[in-house]
Amino acid sequence: MGKLITFEGIEGCGKTTQIKLLGDYLRKKGYTIYETREPGGTLIGDQIRRILLNPENKGINYITELLLYEACRAQLVKELSVRSEELGVKDKEIILCDRFTDSTLAYQGYGRGIDKGVIKELNKIASGGAKPVLTILLDLDVKTGLGRAIGRNINSQKSEVRSQESAESRFEEEALEFHLKVREGFLKIASEEPERIKIVDANKGIEDIHKEIVKIVENYVI
Ligand code: TMP
Repeated sequence: MGKLITFEGIEGCGKTTQIKLLGDYLRKKGYTIYETREPGGTLIGDQIRRILLNPENKGINYITELLLYEACRAQLVKELSVRSEELGVKDKEIILCDRFTDSTLAYQGYGRGIDKGVIKELNKIASGGAKPVLTILLDLDVKTGLGRAIGRNINSQKSEVRSQESAESRFEEEALEFHLKVREGFLKIASEEPERIKIVDANKGIEDIHKEIVKIVENYVI
């Protein structure tokens, strides 16, 4: 598998936009870039994503939820490895992943309160040892992030073609307190692994954030 760079953060922190910008930048530099996300990124993973994010599934057991995220991950990592082998461009390949193991620790560990040791073990099993060389944590206060995410959902509901994303609001409907715990969780995880996880202030403008991310990434892969 190529080099893995992950993006993490609370809802509405701007991961998707930044992944796209970084992907375009690195492609121009001659890298083979593969953009993917969790939950999802594979045919099976996308089906699991729909279960996980469907607001009708509010009653999901937290362990069921955890195992579904891990199941998604196991499938994604396996398919990414096979893909890299087939392409044969391992050295020049960079995988940009929207969320990975840190999200499980932040949401299911810090947010839901599931034992963090158990989650770390499951993360290891599901990722088959694949570890990000770098993780960008886009940090933002919870009210701003949720405001953006909810606005995004309302806009997509208004659009004529009701996109699949508009049905994905289960986590945005969680209490503010839950999201506060998740943000604190991410910051704690970052403080424990400062070499791998770099915190970027997501309050700044899109271009400024992109420039900061490029500077960080250059130290790791370029
Ligand atoms: P998204 O915001 O990137 O679309 O992610 C979907 C949701 O899934 C988001 O609310 C965070 C949540 N999530 C977890 O709770 N645990 C996980 O392990 C992952 C990858 C995501």
